[in-house]
Order: sequence, then C-alpha cells, then structure tokens
Amino acid sequence: MSHSVPVQTVATTPFEGQRPGTSGLRKKVKVFAQSHYLENFVQALFDSLDGFSGGTLVVGGDGRYHNRTAVQVILKMAAANGFGRVKVGRGGILSTPAVSCVIRKHKAFGGIVLSASHNPGGPDEDFGIKYNVSAGGPAPEKVTEAVYARTQTISGYRIVEAPDVDLDRLGETTLGDMVVEVIDPVADYAELMEQLFDMDAIRALFAGGFRLCFDAMHAVTGPYAREILEGRLGAAPGTVINGTPLEDFGGGHPDPNLVHAHDLVEVMEGADAPDMGAASDGDGDRNMILGRGIYVTPSDSLAILTANAHLAPGYARGVAGVARSMPTSRAADRVAEKLGIPAFETPTGWKFFGTLLDAGKVTLCGEESFGTGSDHVREKDGLWAVLLWLNVVAKRGESIADIVRGHWAEYGRTYYSRHDYEGIDSDGADRLMAHLRATVPGLVGQTVAGREVVLGDDFAYTDPVDGSTAAKQGIRIGFADGSRIVYRLSGTGTAGATLRVYIERYEPDAARHDLDPQEALADLIAAAGSVADIAGFTGREAPTVIT
Ligand code: G6P
Ligand code: ZN
Repeated sequence: MSHSVPVQTVATTPFEGQRPGTSGLRKKVKVFAQSHYLENFVQALFDSLDGFSGGTLVVGGDGRYHNRTAVQVILKMAAANGFGRVKVGRGGILSTPAVSCVIRKHKAFGGIVLSASHNPGGPDEDFGIKYNVSAGGPAPEKVTEAVYARTQTISGYRIVEAPDVDLDRLGETTLGDMVVEVIDPVADYAELMEQLFDMDAIRALFAGGFRLCFDAMHAVTGPYAREILEGRLGAAPGTVINGTPLEDFGGGHPDPNLVHAHDLVEVMEGADAPDMGAASDGDGDRNMILGRGIYVTPSDSLAILTANAHLAPGYARGVAGVARSMPTSRAADRVAEKLGIPAFETPTGWKFFGTLLDAGKVTLCGEESFGTGSDHVREKDGLWAVLLWLNVVAKRGESIADIVRGHWAEYGRTYYSRHDYEGIDSDGADRLMAHLRATVPGLVGQTVAGREVVLGDDFAYTDPVDGSTAAKQGIRIGFADGSRIVYRLSGTGTAGATLRVYIERYEPDAARHDLDPQEALADLIAAAGSVADIAGFTGREAPTVIT
C-alpha cells in the first residue's frame, strides 16, 4: 500500500510547562485546545520513542470532554509518524487498566490514555494525556523527562491530512499506511478478569441474593461494570448506577471517596442498604469499597486482599510480595510479615511499582489514594479490586464488615486518615515543606504527642531492581509505637498546591478497634498541625477534605 493521504509537517513553537506530573500531562481543556498544544506534546512523545515503526499503538480515554477530538489528532499523527496499527476503543473509550491489558495481550509498542483521572471534566475543567510502555505501565521518569525536554525544542509536527475516522464502528480502516482498528473496549479486559476470578462462586453469591451497588460516577467503568457484573456474573439489573460515561461526568468529581461518591454513600446509608458498595474513578483505575455499615480504607483493603488473595484462582499460588506507596498505612506490612513475604515501600505513583511487578518481586500493590492492583496489568485497577473483594466474600461466606473486623482482630488495626488542604498558595506550600525539611530531622529522640520520635526524614527511594533513585518524596515522622505522620504536596493538581497530611496509629488491642479514626488519631492530628505550622503557612484552620 502506498501513502494515499498526504503527510504534512506543520511548523510550531514550544509551549512552556509540558512536563508530565505524577500521572501524565494534565491541564485545563482550554490549554489543551490551543492550536498545536496537544500536537506538540504528541510529536515530542513520538520523537522520544525508539523503534515503533510498523508497531502497534493502543489509544483510548475516559470519555471526558475533548476526548474524541484528541483521539482523531493522535490517530492522524500516529499514521504520519509511522505506526503500523492503532487499536482504539469504540467511541474513543478505554479505561486505564484496559489500555494496560490490551497493550500486554497484543504485544503493542505502547499506549496513550486520554484522561485527567478523577479530576472533573467539561469545557472549563481538566484534560490529560499519559503514555504507557510495552509492559503496559506508565512511562518511567526517564521517558517523561525526555518528552519534556523535546517539548522545549520542538519546531514541527507530522500529521496526515485525512477525514476523521468513524470511532463508533467496530473493525478496521486505514489512514495512509496505518491500520486503525476500532475495538470493543470491554472484551479483552473482561476475558482477563474471567481468568483471574472464581466467576462461578461470584455468580452463586449474586444468585443467593447478595446485593452490590457499583457507582461508575458517569465515568469510564460503566460499560465494563455492566458487562461483567450484570452481564457475566448475574448481578441484578441496576447494580451499576451512573453507568453511562458523560463528557462532564454529570458535573461531579469522578473520584471514589466518601465525599465525592455521594450517590453511593446515600444508598449505603439508606434503610435498604445493599451488602456491598463500590465506586471507581474517571479512568477506572481507582476504587472504593464499602460494606454495610463499614468503610474499608484503601490501606486496609490492600492488607486484607493480601491476606486473602489465594482464594481467587489467579492468585492461588500465593502472593510473592506486596508493595505500597510510602504514605499508605503499614497494615499490609503486617500481613507480609506473617506470610513471610517481602513488603516494599515506594514513592507515591503507580509507575514505581512497575519494576517490582516485572521482576516478579510483588504480586499485589496498593496506595492510600484509592489504588489497588496486581501483576495482571501494570496499572491500578478499580473493577479488578471490586471483583477480588467479591471473590473473597463469596469464598469466605462472611460479610465485608466481618472480614474487616476479623482482620483487625488477627493483625491489629491501623487507624488511618488523610487530611487535604486543597488549593493553597504554592509559595506558602513550598515554604511549609522547606520548614519541615529543615526541622523534622532534629525531632528524632524528642517527644511529640507523648511519643518518642524515632524517624524524621524526607523519603528517598532507590529502586531495588534497576537502581534508579527518587528523592524528596515526602516528609516522614515515625514514632516508637509505630505511629506516623507524613506530609507531601500533591503531584496531580492543576491549580495552586494541595498539602496532604497522612496520619496513622497502630492499635493491637481488639477492645479498642471501634473508635472513630478522627478521635483515635486526635493527638497525632494536632501534633501534625503544630509541627508544620499548617495554619501559619497556609492560612487554613482546617483541611478541605478528610478521607
Ligand atoms: C495518581 C497516581 C497514583 C498516585 C496519585 C497521587 O492517581 O496514579 O499512583 O497515588 O496520583 O496523587 P497526589 O495528588 O497525591 O500526588
Ligand atoms: Zn484514575
């Protein structure tokens, strides 16, 4: 086949600030919609990759506003830059874990996900783009830094001149020499889930009257959850709420926490509450798990799933190791200790789990930021977590509350809370962190909140597999009784700064496992405020969000 469509090279000049953050490049739609903005970034990406000529690229997004426009640009640029094939989800839809799954299954060169995750969508809201490598996971920093460097010198981009591809019809078409294959966004992912879980046991659970409410938050997981939960597993119709992806997520924040998943929280607090509640975020990688009368913290969820994963066929051989991000509570470490498996502490961001997963050192990973996943893909996976919980419930024959309480009784409870100060002034936030960096090491050996401080540092990480390093990943104060206070600035915001304060305390005594976390942690929370002088540096008397 010869080039039936002309390839154009369009002159351009660099934009400032195209450095990918924790999870890709995220900006307001208005920024992305400027002419050449997306094109510059995509060309810088292609220029930074080696050896993709004739290879396959996977493309999809969470369906937010600007998704379809961006997909068309990427298809035309992929064709002009020499990809052989693009697999794109129907309607431009693919969840983040589905992109990872499709890349791995079809041995693609890489993939592009269009999403700003849990940030709101719409003409005045956020958009984003991230690149995943051939193993299926987020590009490592050396790639994203190379892309950023290239954005600073770019002078032109390549694109074919052709009409838009019909994204709503399954099957193959061509763009120049490149094949565009519109795929069912759910099929490959659903097939993988069937291999991992005891589908018969879960089907029997639903057939026996177990009720689930899954809140897709008008975001990408709707079609996945409907097909797998209601379709393949026989959950009652209506199990999935807010199940149609909308460009503005119905005006909400598609973030599965107790504040933003209010429809679900209302259902779970109602008189006729189902047995289980769950939600996922904009691009389908986060999850929140609720039982009747109980909220499972993401840190506890990781610990409980680590202790019970062997109940699912995909993990019947056991868990090789578990990894958690530094601010995630140490509940999973206690399970690892008992199981005699290694536990790893990594910086915040799923990309840091990639080497450990590739090397087979860990099977499960999780983060306090509502992320849980395993070696089945290289992203965290919201619906996967829900299915693993269902599998555990089905095999144990216990309620979620009983499973959680039983876990605490066996391992002790780790009280945990995160306090967010959103939209604070960036200078104040930087000064607060500088103050902590200067003073926290000096606290070691002193008494704070009635406890001896045994650790005070700014977390630095050396990857045990590839030796790469990451410094300044968050201030840690560790106490002799196992309590911790952690401070870091969010890496995912698009305006101002967000200070996150993470507080935890270990409570071995089962007689004291029923406290409200805010009360159980009250003295540490107060100490966290005074050590950092949060009020002084931010002008805020209280956090904006507590999870
Ligand atoms: C994204 C990443 C997660 C990470 C989170 C941290 O969701 O995928 O791996 O934990 O960002 O967000 P933050 O706002 O705390 O930097
Ligand atoms: Zn997400």
